Amino acid sequence: MFGFKYYTPTKVIFGKDTESQVADLIKEFGGKKVLIHYGGGSVIRSGLLKRVTDTLDAAGIPYVSLGGAVPNPHLGLVYEGIELCKKENVDFLLAVGGGSAIDSAKAIGYGVANEGDVWDFYDYKRQAKACLPLGVILTLAATGSEMSDSSVITKEDGLVKRGYNSDLCRPKFAIMNPELTKTLPDYQTSCGCTDIMMHTMERYFTNGGNMEITDALAEGLLRTVKKNAVILHDDPQNYEARAEVMWAGSLAHNGLTGCGSDGGDWMTHKLEHELGGLYDVAHGAGLAAIWGSWARYVYKDCLPRFKKFALNVMEVEDSGSDEDIALRGIEAVEDFYRSIDMPTNLRELGVEPTDEELALMAGKCAIGVGGSKGSAKVLDEAAMLEIYRASM
Ligand code: NZQ
Ligand code: ZN
Repeated sequence: MFGFKYYTPTKVIFGKDTESQVADLIKEFGGKKVLIHYGGGSVIRSGLLKRVTDTLDAAGIPYVSLGGAVPNPHLGLVYEGIELCKKENVDFLLAVGGGSAIDSAKAIGYGVANEGDVWDFYDYKRQAKACLPLGVILTLAATGSEMSDSSVITKEDGLVKRGYNSDLCRPKFAIMNPELTKTLPDYQTSCGCTDIMMHTMERYFTNGGNMEITDALAEGLLRTVKKNAVILHDDPQNYEARAEVMWAGSLAHNGLTGCGSDGGDWMTHKLEHELGGLYDVAHGAGLAAIWGSWARYVYKDCLPRFKKFALNVMEVEDSGSDEDIALRGIEAVEDFYRSIDMPTNLRELGVEPTDEELALMAGKCAIGVGGSKGSAKVLDEAAMLEIYRASM
């Protein structure tokens, strides 16, 4: 077991109608002028944005708005947001939406609070010294960005998708009303459940530092999301299932399920980020498409964890060799993905990269991780290419 830092400063307001508290929360955290940042329009269609602006108007809080954060959010809009905030003297950011709107807002926050090009942070050239304070109204349970230290941005030039991690961007508050997720397309609900599970699985499949308490939390979370993902697949309006998944999404990525470990593996995410950058696929679906190939490539080097996962999460029968059990666990994950309409390979994901494109992704991925990375098994560029090929 390793020592750890657990830092989750985000105030969580969870439950029905909680978005009505947004003005009080902004005031509590000192916001005087707000940028409301959102995505492609779902918050307009649902009426949420209007409710939010009405609440701010009633509370006398001035604001400007910037929509247009796309899935795999673009650097160009981040620059636009930075300019707007500077021009309007914005001192507080309110992201209303899913991970893309939140991540884009975090990047804007870095850009306003630091000199120079904000991409430098995502390009690992320097560290941010500050970030504008940020609040969130979450509409999609998936990334955990509402409590995480992470922001993932795609630079259009070269389609480079990179994450930058710093405690500075952890939101001051996160309003989580599970009802707001009822308007999601079924595909996005399934993508979200996949992403949530992956955030904990990335931390689970390690070769260093595991704690019984962390494993118990992780396995309980994974079983809960697996069960409720299936419930939502059949009954998308189920409030209880929406609530279970939403809270799991935050706990899966706020650090809780990694305490004591070596930090996790994260290679499925790194491999997916290249897919997201190049083909603009939904993040959760990209993870599902790559995971099985990753798992089969690494499981022998992390056998005790794969066995434990198969038994305690996927609930496969405890018979046969450890390898048999581990492999049946991997198959059970793929069956689960299929049951919620998630892809288990790149073709099902809808992309068919050429050999050159596979090599390009492996090369970019290797650069992105500084050569090699992984805990279940350390992967270099050749291994990354092999996994991409296997996922065809
Ligand atoms: O853009 P709008 O119109 O809002 O529509 C979105 C978008 O089309 C829609 N949507 C969201 N809430 C909705 C809704 N539609 C109807 N009703 C609602 N209530 O769903 C689509 C996907 O939204 P997006 O925000 O892109 O999805 P997600 O939350 O999965 O975010 C994905 C991004 O986050 C990054 C991913 O790589 C990807 O770029 N990640 C961020 C992380 C973090 N910051 O900690 C960690 C993750 O591992 C991940 O990498
Ligand atoms: Zn993710």
